[in-house]
Amino acid sequence: MQQIEEPESMQAVALGWRAQGFRIGFVPTMGYLHEGHASLMRLARPLCDKLVVSIYVNPTQFAPGEDFTTYPRSVERDRVICETEGVDVVFLPTNLYAPNHSVRVQELSLSKGLCGRSRPTHFDGVATIVVKLLNLVQPTVAVFGQKDAQQAQVIRKVVADLHMPVDIVLGPIHRDHDGLAMSSRNTYLSAYERSSALILSRSLEKADALFRAGERNAGMIRSLVLSEIDRVPEVRVDYVDIVDPDTLAAQETLGDVALLAIAAYVGRTRLIDNRVLRSE
Ligand code: PAF
Repeated sequence: MQQIEEPESMQAVALGWRAQGFRIGFVPTMGYLHEGHASLMRLARPLCDKLVVSIYVNPTQFAPGEDFTTYPRSVERDRVICETEGVDVVFLPTNLYAPNHSVRVQELSLSKGLCGRSRPTHFDGVATIVVKLLNLVQPTVAVFGQKDAQQAQVIRKVVADLHMPVDIVLGPIHRDHDGLAMSSRNTYLSAYERSSALILSRSLEKADALFRAGERNAGMIRSLVLSEIDRVPEVRVDYVDIVDPDTLAAQETLGDVALLAIAAYVGRTRLIDNRVLRSE
């Protein structure tokens, strides 16, 4: 496995591969890799000839006061995971913003609801860094996690609107044995907070059962989730929303498929989770 730190070198390697006809697969990450990231690499591996994983904690997607400086980092462990998953290049840039950078990519619709309400600049940072990374890595396919469902739809829209020649593939949410969605931020949780956080996946499961039993009133499903979470005092809801999985538009009367998305603070840690409700 090769390690590349310089953006120019990454792009030169990628353009060389493309000239030779190789398909490049890409898994962008912020590091502190876990089984969820490994599952995205496994999804990407058979779709490409060369697999690149980037590890870069992107400052522009954190607002002042958020956890940019404390975001967990573990490059040595991350390298071992990448090596085990057969990654060809781990791209580890130190900085992707020139001191005089003055360009931002903004998605003006899908990024506004859900997490965009409490993190209004977050998706500008995500869209900007993803466009930069896609330009540097030149992938034919890039794999993102369904846990960040809104991020995935924002990126799909950016790629479509900017005519970028890359397929965006989504990997399913990877859960711990007890149902907690894997996240690098789970490391912030105390044992007690971690057990409190289980209410998120459990309430999604209950909502799914209600949907499968025929409930199509989004308000009823939402109330169930809110009342479940309300029973756990350490957990404070940011939002519980039911939206169309592609357009992220709020839904009232549900059809055969809907996205139920949650963001909540467990202690001081903000976690997200979601479930696609399907009738069959
Ligand atoms: O999902 C993440 O880890 C990040 O938001 C991403 C896509 C790597 C951009 O920094």
